[in-house]
Amino acid sequence: MATKSLICLEEYEEEARSILDRNAWGYYSSGATTEYTLRDNVQAYNRYSIFPRVLVDVSLIDMSVRLLGDTIDMPIGISPTAMQCLAHPDGEKATARAAARMGTCLTLSSWSTTNIEEVAKHNGSHSFRWFQLYVYKDNNLTIDLVRRAEREGFKALVVTVDTPELGLRYGDKRNKFSLPRHLKLANFSERDSSSLASSGGSALQEYVKKLIDPSLVWDGIDWLRSITRLPIVLKGVLRADDAREAMKHDIQGILVSNHGARQLDTVPATVD
Ligand code: LAC
Repeated sequence: MATKSLICLEEYEEEARSILDRNAWGYYSSGATTEYTLRDNVQAYNRYSIFPRVLVDVSLIDMSVRLLGDTIDMPIGISPTAMQCLAHPDGEKATARAAARMGTCLTLSSWSTTNIEEVAKHNGSHSFRWFQLYVYKDNNLTIDLVRRAEREGFKALVVTVDTPELGLRYGDKRNKFSLPRHLKLANFSERDSSSLASSGGSALQEYVKKLIDPSLVWDGIDWLRSITRLPIVLKGVLRADDAREAMKHDIQGILVSNHGARQLDTVPATVD
């Protein structure tokens, strides 16, 4: 089969829709409920214009930026997305290699289908990687992930704070989303990831209900701060007052995000 050459994001999306099965496509493409924010995340860019100066020397362009004390080659990084092996057997390994090749930041989802150690190997010893984390009801699960991320050279913890419950995604509900049997959440034991293979409703929603701590407040972040020296970035902060509160808790960064519009519908577009 001749390889199609895909030249822009829209073409990648179109291709994905045509080759992925319903379970995977539904999971990757869905936003929460009516998907108002999902649409607005894209449309919002139309409300901004680029307003360029002319006659500026652009023969040498340096797009590198400093990020928590390190330098990456461009101001675009890879946000965490879960279960990449649903799309391709190389999954997170391929993403890790690509991030290294582009000299940019990889943030690995803790719900990856390739484990932390394997991803670190494919990302390489000099690369810049962060680890995304949820705070679990069981502290030992959280501590284990933190220690493994530290050991494998991840340079910050990106703690998702907008998911006390998983957003309601109609696609997943309709498809009774589940992880196919040959895949697993690779950072967890069989016991802790087994509910994902069940398919009563959306398996991921049940998983979050069972394991993630919905009572998490700022104290929980202080606890996390006390068990690690890695910088902490809070992912999912949308308000200035929350950003100010984060500074009081010795947090090194925020990631302004609406979780790809997958959590709470009708929140503002990320770029806004
Ligand atoms: C999601 C979680 C895994 O959006 O971040 O599906």
